[in-house]
Amino acid sequence: MTDLYTGNDRRYTGNQVDITYNIKRCIHAEYCVKHLSDVFDKQKRPWINADGAPVEDVAAVIEQCPSGALHYDRKDGNNEATPEQNTIIIRHNGPLEVRGDLTIHGTTVALEHETRVTLCRCGGSKNKPFCDNTHKEIGFEAGEREPIEGSAERSGGKLIITAETNGPLEFQGEVEILNESQETLFKGNNTALCRCGQSSNKPFCDSTHQRIGFKAE
Ligand code: FES
Repeated sequence: MTDLYTGNDRRYTGNQVDITYNIKRCIHAEYCVKHLSDVFDKQKRPWINADGAPVEDVAAVIEQCPSGALHYDRKDGNNEATPEQNTIIIRHNGPLEVRGDLTIHGTTVALEHETRVTLCRCGGSKNKPFCDNTHKEIGFEAGEREPIEGSAERSGGKLIITAETNGPLEFQGEVEILNESQETLFKGNNTALCRCGQSSNKPFCDSTHQRIGFKAE
């Protein structure tokens, strides 16, 4: 299967670090331009200068990029660590922000190792399974879900995400789901989250995708 999303990376080479950028994955969270404008400056061409700041600063800012559009490749080999915990933050009326030891499969994607990704849950992205900010255009409203009591269970290890054909996002492996206030909504071993935007039990899939004939691919 073609790896669409690594193949589209642009590489910006520096003396101590290379930076890669995938425009199709970018949701313009703008953490990079706001926090390290000596490296990320949209007014300049090229807009990334990998030598514009100390390598530690470059790494720290890129690791905050929620979509995984930005990654870095340090010449000293001290690259981004795989998170010990798998977490999904449900962005209010927005995407799923997933971090962890991730593998992502689907008809249009095959990423064997990823640490950060934002996934569409409004059903409208033109770049599924990734978010492309269409939720803002269509005024997606998802409502809020009551938190559950937290637990001490761990949520680490490999998390395999499968974008089911015309169906939900299946998560296999330990994961904690949180709201934007960092309150736990789910903690456990395998779950399926809605990506058609129509579930009555968001963020979870309730099979509404079948009734409405959701087409993701
Ligand atoms: S994907 Fe939305 S209800 Fe199943």
